[in-house]
Amino acid sequence: MKKLLAGAVLGVATLSVATVSLAQMKTEDAIKFRQAGYAFMSWNMGKIKAQVVDGAVPYNKDQIVAAANVIAAVANSGMGALYPAGSDKGSGFHETKVKPEFFQNMPEVGKLAGNFNTAANELAAAAATGDQGAIKAAFGKVGESCKACHDQFRAK
Ligand code: HEC
Repeated sequence: MKKLLAGAVLGVATLSVATVSLAQMKTEDAIKFRQAGYAFMSWNMGKIKAQVVDGAVPYNKDQIVAAANVIAAVANSGMGALYPAGSDKGSGFHETKVKPEFFQNMPEVGKLAGNFNTAANELAAAAATGDQGAIKAAFGKVGESCKACHDQFRAK
């Protein structure tokens, strides 16, 4: 199951479909879409942090469910398709920060993406329960899974 998810994330399982759609996608657009996806997740992670981790903003279950669902939806969207060959260089909203190693180490990327996917789905499930302790724990795991990929594959 994990393998399947990782494959979906990387677009490996859907390679033939991806090839068709990527034939039309410009490198610049692929980089833009992935940067936008990460930035949008980051905004939603911030909401959960503010309400459930820091308590800087009062907890609102509906907002946290919505935020967690966004993160899970982006995680499940198959972002691997946004890393077409040749997109190790180029600009989207700005110069890409992906490291060349990303494209040379797909099994490791797949593992990290699979972990991230699982954690994001668990965060959405925790958010639905409204149990702030569980949300906080699941949020921590998602954060670790974001960082694990950045540490290896995103330039500073
Ligand atoms: C499988 C690897 C991977 C995972 C998982 C991952 N990221 Fe990233 N992230 C990247 C890479 C690679 C880039 C650089 C993309 C580029 O510039 O082309 C990036 C870029 C970003 C950016 C900068 C976006 C911009 O404006 O250009 C933010 C913010 C970010 N990630 C947040 C997150 C958050 C939050 C999570 C978890 C909820 C996450 N990322 C999970 C690999 C990952």
